[in-house]
Amino acid sequence: MARLLLAACWSALVVNILAEDAYESFDPLAYVDPLIGASNGGNVFPGASLPYGMAKAVADTNSGSNQGGFTLDGASVTGFSMMHDSGTGGSPSLGNFALFAYTNCPGGEINRCAFPKKARAKSGRFTNTSVSAKPGTFGITLDNGIRAEMTTTHHTSLFSFTFPSVDADQEPAQPLILQDLTDLSDSRQDNATVRVDPDTGRITGSARFLPSFGTGSYVLHFCTDFRGAEIADAGIFADSRASAEVHRLTVSRSINGYPLPGGAFVRFNSAAEPILARTATSFISVERACEHAEREIPDFDFAAVSEAATDLWREKMSPIRVSPDKVDGSMLTNFYSGIYRTMVNPQNYTGENPLWASDEPYFDSFYCLWDLFRSQLPLLTITDPNAVTDMVRSLIDTYRHTGWLPDCRMTLNKGYTQGGSNADVVLADAYVKGLRGGINWDDGYAAVVKDAEVEPFDWCCEGRGGLDSWKALGYIPVQDFDFKGFGTMTRSISRTLEYAYNDFCISQMAAGLNKTTDKEKYLGSSGNWENLFKEEQASEWWNGTDTGFTGFFQPRYLNKTWGYQDPLNCSNLDATSVCSLQNTGRETFESSIWEYGFFVPHDQASLITLYGGPSSFISRLDYLHDSAITYIGNEPAFLTVFQYHYAGRPGLSAKRAHFYIPHFFSVAPDGLPGNDDSGAMGSFVAFSMMGLFPNPGQNVYLITPPFFEAVNITHPVTGRTARIRTVGFDAGYEAIYVQSATLDGEVYTKSWVDHSFFTEGRELVLTLGKEESSTWGRKVEDLPPSLGEYQGFGGRSSGGGSERGRGRASGNGSGNGTLKRTVMEGLLHRAESGGLFGL
Ligand SMILES: *[C@@H]1O[C@H](CO)[C@@H](O)[C@H](O)[C@H]1NC(C)=O
Ligand SMILES: *[C@@H]1O[C@H](CO)[C@@H](O)[C@H](O)[C@H]1NC(C)=O
Ligand SMILES: *[C@@H]1O[C@H](CO)[C@@H](O)[C@H](O)[C@H]1NC(C)=O
Ligand SMILES: *[C@@H]1O[C@H](CO)[C@@H](O)[C@H](O)[C@H]1NC(C)=O
Ligand SMILES: *[C@@H]1O[C@H](CO)[C@@H](O)[C@H](O)[C@H]1NC(C)=O
Ligand SMILES: *[C@@H]1O[C@H](CO)[C@@H](O)[C@H](O)[C@H]1NC(C)=O
Ligand SMILES: *[C@@H]1O[C@H](CO)[C@@H](O)[C@H](O)[C@H]1NC(C)=O
Ligand SMILES: *[C@@H]1O[C@H](CO)[C@@H](O)[C@H](O)[C@H]1NC(C)=O
Ligand SMILES: *[C@@H]1O[C@H](CO)[C@@H](O)[C@H](O)[C@H]1NC(C)=O
Ligand SMILES: *[C@@H]1O[C@H](CO)[C@@H](O)[C@H](O)[C@H]1NC(C)=O
Repeated sequence: MARLLLAACWSALVVNILAEDAYESFDPLAYVDPLIGASNGGNVFPGASLPYGMAKAVADTNSGSNQGGFTLDGASVTGFSMMHDSGTGGSPSLGNFALFAYTNCPGGEINRCAFPKKARAKSGRFTNTSVSAKPGTFGITLDNGIRAEMTTTHHTSLFSFTFPSVDADQEPAQPLILQDLTDLSDSRQDNATVRVDPDTGRITGSARFLPSFGTGSYVLHFCTDFRGAEIADAGIFADSRASAEVHRLTVSRSINGYPLPGGAFVRFNSAAEPILARTATSFISVERACEHAEREIPDFDFAAVSEAATDLWREKMSPIRVSPDKVDGSMLTNFYSGIYRTMVNPQNYTGENPLWASDEPYFDSFYCLWDLFRSQLPLLTITDPNAVTDMVRSLIDTYRHTGWLPDCRMTLNKGYTQGGSNADVVLADAYVKGLRGGINWDDGYAAVVKDAEVEPFDWCCEGRGGLDSWKALGYIPVQDFDFKGFGTMTRSISRTLEYAYNDFCISQMAAGLNKTTDKEKYLGSSGNWENLFKEEQASEWWNGTDTGFTGFFQPRYLNKTWGYQDPLNCSNLDATSVCSLQNTGRETFESSIWEYGFFVPHDQASLITLYGGPSSFISRLDYLHDSAITYIGNEPAFLTVFQYHYAGRPGLSAKRAHFYIPHFFSVAPDGLPGNDDSGAMGSFVAFSMMGLFPNPGQNVYLITPPFFEAVNITHPVTGRTARIRTVGFDAGYEAIYVQSATLDGEVYTKSWVDHSFFTEGRELVLTLGKEESSTWGRKVEDLPPSLGEYQGFGGRSSGGGSERGRGRASGNGSGNGTLKRTVMEGLLHRAESGGLFGL
């Protein structure tokens, strides 16, 4: 008996040790593929960077879709540059001061090397299989045999160029490395300068460039040094001609719009060893750039720099553990690559902001908050709350010094606002989830109130337009009369909906800060969305077939009469309408009235009632997805995947998540359905696969089964581990319906949890089945919070609303937010008292 017991203990111990080993040896970085999104408009930056790093080194191609620098679409490499953004639309961003290398200039003649960016492309062809990309490093071999590897520290990039061996009968290798004064979008302005020291080979320079989706300009400086071979000579080039006799150049923009090629080069006597090029950049000065370089990479040790970068990424990714058992490896790659991309942008430019002096952190490349507020920043609030704290402090400090919270910000400039003042959502999300450490919430609150109360003279790039009408009428009118501030007077519907939600977010912060009058006021205006709801509006396809749904948002004039916009305009299927920031744009931004018809994140209950009850709400949501009116490649679609929860059908959210993943998100260069938009798409994948989707700005995560048997997330500040475990996990994803759940061992029927799940490290156990449960998450008391009261759910499992949505009449300006508020207040109180973890 004793022996047996001992044996049993022993084997348990062995199993334990093996399990520990497996646990320890699990490396999330093995599942990161930075090349996902490197073609087909994903526009990701697939190169070397630290988390939020300013230095971002990659090979740049001449693709028409090179916003992130590198692409895998058959385009050629034109250079190796060290600053980038990731996933953005707009013009290509950054990509300044590219390096390029040749093994020889034919006949030893400098002028027979091609210097201008356009001319270099013919030497920049490569095959896809030569590319290697891992967190922290990137490498590529050009068809001419030159291999370029790169890695980075925070401000400094280290490139290693290995040259092909040259046959004995050929001329001896005399490698040339040039560095030019361009950026990806050829935005350089006048009088860029460069100089090269012929003795040391150090190249330094400065130039002014334009931001890619905003106003103003920025000046960037650089400092480059080389190691690995003796210097033969060095000089500058202007246009296509170069000379080793000249060592300084100041170059005009151009004569006819295209920036004149210009830069410097260094030639070396040998190609026997790799030649290392170290470049740091700075927004402050050349001297600062050189200091970064010398401090961060003193000894040009490529292996050490690359290992340090890898270690930092591993540390950032390590809080998130999923069970690798049973599932296809591509699921893990999809998940971890998505998480990885959320930490590439925004960028930490602390200490690098020449615009104002401050002890606060400075983050840049919020590109744009309209994209980031939905799931990227909420994901980081779980995985890297200290980073979000820094970002929020930076946003508030930007308000202090520029007068406004940004909506979009890149390269030290104001970017264009797409809809509402969505920094309000970002701040509220951080506030209700308890981020406190070092954040001055009084200033944060003043900043969001300014968005709601003060109209900027130029609301292209901050705040909101049309505030007089907003206050007088309770909506943004189409063809508004606005003489106080100026901006593109389109998007009246989407702006109304976003402003309403922004106000709700402000009301939550007001509640937390005990500003009771403000709380009531902004709760009131958060109901303004109802004022654009036209009950009798129908929607037909362009062939005349009725969609079968009635009641849509519509534009409305100053005199309160209705305008008209086809509810399908600007949908995924509309190839003709102008739907972005053009002044001929429509009343909805980058999305249809159909889709914006669900954008009432704070009051799904009232919306469901307006749409005729839960079952007609669900029919409408199904129609939105099944008819491809919505497209998951743009951010407004994200929340619609999970809004079934609010109609008491969380199982349908799970089903919809599997409808999109992996079909629309695969682990291939062309695997993203649209621009990643920083890591917005990545965060959608990560949250969906994790099984908890946020309703951003609220202390709410909607529960669906994870795509893995189990998920653990260790909170980096509290150290507690939140666990989701499934019972009956099915890797074929047929059993995707929660039958029952427990939270910390207690029966749990609600279809959502709050942020304390993560900070306190709770355990959710989900029992899964192949049929949708008729009970779990379906009763009114189980539904996620909503301002209005849920109606028409009855005692039955799913709704009692009429199929064809004639709901509550509203939409003539009489609705003004007189809805039930208690649920939200309760939630906020729980967040307030439930252990604030900020430091
Ligand atoms: C390289 O990959 C891209 C993206 O997958 C593809 O478009 C291109 O055709 C590939 N080129 C070759 C030569 O396979
Ligand atoms: C560029 O330099 C030229 C020559 O010194 C000068 O005339 C011009 O004003 C400068 N332009 C700018 C934008 O500084
Ligand atoms: C989660 O944590 C628990 C408890 O530490 C552990 O038993 C389990 O293996 C972990 N699961 C994963 C997926 O890492
Ligand atoms: C941002 O950079 C500053 C200065 O280097 C550093 O103190 C801070 O920790 C960084 N923040 C994050 C989130 O990495
Ligand atoms: C708000 O009031 C409550 C109750 O009086 C108090 O506990 C809390 O500290 C106050 N919060 C703030 C931010 O003043
Ligand atoms: C009209 O177009 C819609 C959407 O494409 C389609 O579902 C419907 O069948 C079409 N109706 C006719 C009569 O072609
Ligand atoms: C309201 O204004 C619109 C746009 O100017 C106009 O077409 C409409 O006739 C006006 N309605 C009334 C009742 O005046
Ligand atoms: C978009 O709206 C315009 C103007 O109402 C209309 O002519 C056009 O057919 C609409 N396009 C689609 C695809 O609905
Ligand atoms: C506005 O709606 C209210 C309530 O539905 C109704 O009593 C009122 O007559 C409506 N007013 C107009 C002008 O349609
Ligand atoms: C709007 O709400 C206020 C109180 O919040 C109420 O006094 C007023 O009558 C309401 N207006 C309408 C048109 O319902």
